[in-house]
Amino acid sequence: MPAISNLRSSVAVIGLGSIGGVVAGCLAAAGRHDVIACVRQPIERLTLEQPAGTVEVPLAALTDPAQTKTVDWALLCTKTHQTEAASPWLEHLCAPSTRVAVLQNGIDQVARVAPFADGATVMPVIVYYNGERLAQNRVRFRQGAHADLVVADDDNGRAFTTLFEGTPLRVQLGNDFVTLAWRKLLINAIASPITALTLQRQAVLRRTDVQALCRAVLDEAIAVGRAEGAQLATDEGVRAMATLFTFSGELGTSMYFDRLAGRQMEVEALTGAIVAAAERHGIATPYNCALLALLRAINDGAGK
Ligand SMILES: NC(=O)c1ccc[n+]([C@@H]2O[C@H](COP(=O)([O-])OP(=O)(O)OC[C@H]3O[C@@H](n4cnc5c(N)ncnc54)[C@H](OP(=O)(O)O)[C@@H]3O)[C@@H](O)[C@H]2O)c1
Repeated sequence: MPAISNLRSSVAVIGLGSIGGVVAGCLAAAGRHDVIACVRQPIERLTLEQPAGTVEVPLAALTDPAQTKTVDWALLCTKTHQTEAASPWLEHLCAPSTRVAVLQNGIDQVARVAPFADGATVMPVIVYYNGERLAQNRVRFRQGAHADLVVADDDNGRAFTTLFEGTPLRVQLGNDFVTLAWRKLLINAIASPITALTLQRQAVLRRTDVQALCRAVLDEAIAVGRAEGAQLATDEGVRAMATLFTFSGELGTSMYFDRLAGRQMEVEALTGAIVAAAERHGIATPYNCALLALLRAINDGAGK
């Protein structure tokens, strides 16, 4: 087994929710880096429920961006629509030497975050693990099937992999990141809107009529993904549905839980991104446009 790097980095985790709680907890428990959490509510310790057992770790947390200094790594773990509200953290944490890893769903992470990052390097991360915030100071980590986090196979991706050495989070380098990001988006493009609109968990996707709708939504999204350079296979839609059916019908989606709680949903980063890319390429996406109109209408009536 290769030796673990002894390079100590300063790491700021912005947003200590389901995903941020897991990365902050894993990094803090490993003790290899100086980790701070950038939060809205103060916290001193975090309990991490993980496959190897539950651990409680002390965690330095700040509630005021002005208290922070520039760091080697900023891990942005808010929901996509909370990016701008979290930008004061980025403004204080970023220098040109900083790497900002964006642990958010969707495909437009760099365009979304770079304007707030003061010349820092912004890199997208595909998240495959399941995080669940159980309380403000307690989070549950369920591992992905093959990897927990996927990054591009480049210098930044390799540095990110080194950052997580000694933690249970398995980081994989992907040599066709665009395709991998679209593959993840395809899953979100059907499961998220349909569970949120029907207010039903993933079992709803097993209905024959809903499967037909999913295929139509997927066919449009696949055409858009290909136009964006994703190498999506001829049976990509079948594969996406098969992947979905490996998940328990009892599972919800983040969008479903947000709608249930009357919160804003990540509409623009998912269905919105597909429709925006379709417009750039002149591709008709009537099914995705219909979902988008309904989701936007719900968001307009939801809390912030
Ligand atoms: N959960 C999963 O299993 C999963 C899996 C794959 C991908 N993802 C993606 O990962 C991203 C994060 O999702 P999540 O599930 O972790 O969301 P989440 O549980 O809602 O966590 C977001 C966190 O960001 C915090 N936040 C928002 N604005 C902030 C600000 N201005 N300053 C500091 N903190 C701020 C929130 O704080 P408050 O607590 O104060 O509201 C919350 O703790 C999303 O793009 C999601 O789609 C999630």
